[in-house]
Amino acid sequence: QTEISRVRNLETIQMGDSEIEPWYFSPYPAEFTDVDMVYICEFCLGYYGNLHQFTRHRQKCQLYHPPGNEIYRDDNVSFFEIDGRRQRTWCRNLCLLSKLFLDHKTLYYDVDPFLFYCMTTRTEHGHHLVGYFSKEKESAEGYNVACILTLPQFQRKGYGRLLIQFSYELSKIEGKLGSPEKPLSDLGLLGYRAYWQEVIVDLLVDAGGQLSVEDIGSTLAMTTTDVLHTLQNLNMLRYSNKNHVIVLTDAVLQQREKQREKEKVKGKRFIEPTKLQWKPPV
Ligand code: COA
Ligand code: NA
Repeated sequence: QTEISRVRNLETIQMGDSEIEPWYFSPYPAEFTDVDMVYICEFCLGYYGNLHQFTRHRQKCQLYHPPGNEIYRDDNVSFFEIDGRRQRTWCRNLCLLSKLFLDHKTLYYDVDPFLFYCMTTRTEHGHHLVGYFSKEKESAEGYNVACILTLPQFQRKGYGRLLIQFSYELSKIEGKLGSPEKPLSDLGLLGYRAYWQEVIVDLLVDAGGQLSVEDIGSTLAMTTTDVLHTLQNLNMLRYSNKNHVIVLTDAVLQQREKQREKEKVKGKRFIEPTKLQWKPPV
């Protein structure tokens, strides 16, 4: 996997309404290194090294949403579930695209063992890809997310939080405790930590009484390891007679109150679990 360490090879990509500067190397065709702009079809994720070919493609492309079942829809976003084995080309194109923004090793060609949960926003032109996460059909380690990405033009708007919440809603339906694949990137860790802190503190506040680490884990479909780490980071764990005692400190409550104020201004979005139409694939 020598290509991981290779330098960024694409100058700029154009996708939908956005021009984006890639962050990392991705194994697109070698000749793309010499062009100023790579054009990516926002629906089929096909790639073109010149505008003429891309324009011809756009006249023919028949795709208006990711090629799978729409399993969730609310006023803002939809989610499509795509099987890597059934939609090999599309999923390989997605992995190539996301490698531009992922530093560590990702698979590009062997997409068969994965399902891809793709989040879109709707306009009259179709369902526009905003982000996605992949998930192994069978994860020996119990991971509920392999790769997760919000396309850069949509980052820091709360979409990553929606992707993360969605992954845990799937785990709740499966009746499993999930955790993202390690190692997480710096940004991945920031996104997960923010989500874990928020949902754990809110649960404890709502519950009003004592919950165990296991209670928290099973309610939120989180592993006890992730619950414990989050509580430790928040300095909310005390020990008595070898038992954990969870303490909602004033500092934590004040921090959460500040976040709520920010959420009100920004207009926070949530996944509505009742709108999820999904059964675990057999
Ligand atoms: N700096 C500091 N905090 C950040 C951050 C950043 N650049 N990006 C996310 N966070 C934290 C913040 O607490 C943020 O809440 P706030 O915006 O209210 O402060 C919280 O995460 C949620 O952010 P959100 O807007 O929902 O996330 P996002 O849509 O930007 O997506 C990732 C987060 C990780 C999916 C996105 O950064 C990404 O795709 N990165 C590249 C791919 C990657 O590294 N994936 C993880 C692989 S393991
Ligand atoms: Na990951």
